[in-house]
Amino acid sequence: MVLKSTSEETTSKIGKILGRNLQPGTVVALNGELGAGKTVFARGVAEGLDVQVVVNSPSYVIMNLYRGRMELYHFDFYRLEEEEELQELGLEEYFYGDGITLIEWADKFPGVLPTTRVEIDIVKDDEDLENSRILYFKHLGKLEESLIEELKKVASPGY
Ligand SMILES: Nc1ncnc2c1ncn2[C@@H]1O[C@H](COP(=O)(O)OP(=O)(O)OP(=O)(O)O)[C@@H](O)[C@H]1O
Ligand SMILES: [Mg+2]
Repeated sequence: MVLKSTSEETTSKIGKILGRNLQPGTVVALNGELGAGKTVFARGVAEGLDVQVVVNSPSYVIMNLYRGRMELYHFDFYRLEEEEELQELGLEEYFYGDGITLIEWADKFPGVLPTTRVEIDIVKDDEDLENSRILYFKHLGKLEESLIEELKKVASPGY
């Protein structure tokens, strides 16, 4: 699935719809360059999970835990240099628990990701407006068809 977002609000809304509908134990991997919109997307997911506090990039602590309808484990792999640092964290407990795991810069360490996951590449759409982003859903995990249809309604690419 490919979605197009022409504003921060739309990216956030896509995240929110996802957050509202995610099953416990879903891992959402987010890729994209600096400023692509991963954290914007993560804020939307948090909103959809009824997290009441402001979500920021957890760059310096590897992971922030938020409590909403379910727990949200917000990782950022950007500053990590060794995969071993992740192994020490016991990622499986997060991935296969009852919360939602969301990982920025997930493609830095693809080897640690579970095979069943939602994975999205957010790409700046240079040829278009400054605020334009293309969201490539590379993996759809166990997302339901009805949810996929809802997402397409919010942000069809139209190109
Ligand atoms: N369509 C859009 N979707 C998301 N963000 C957008 C969009 N258009 C413009 N922006 C802007 O792009 C920036 C995205 O920042 P954000 O922190 O989410 O990026 P990031 O991918 O998390 O970067 P980093 O790798 O540094 O964590 C924000 O300043 C936001 O306002
Ligand atoms: Mg970020």
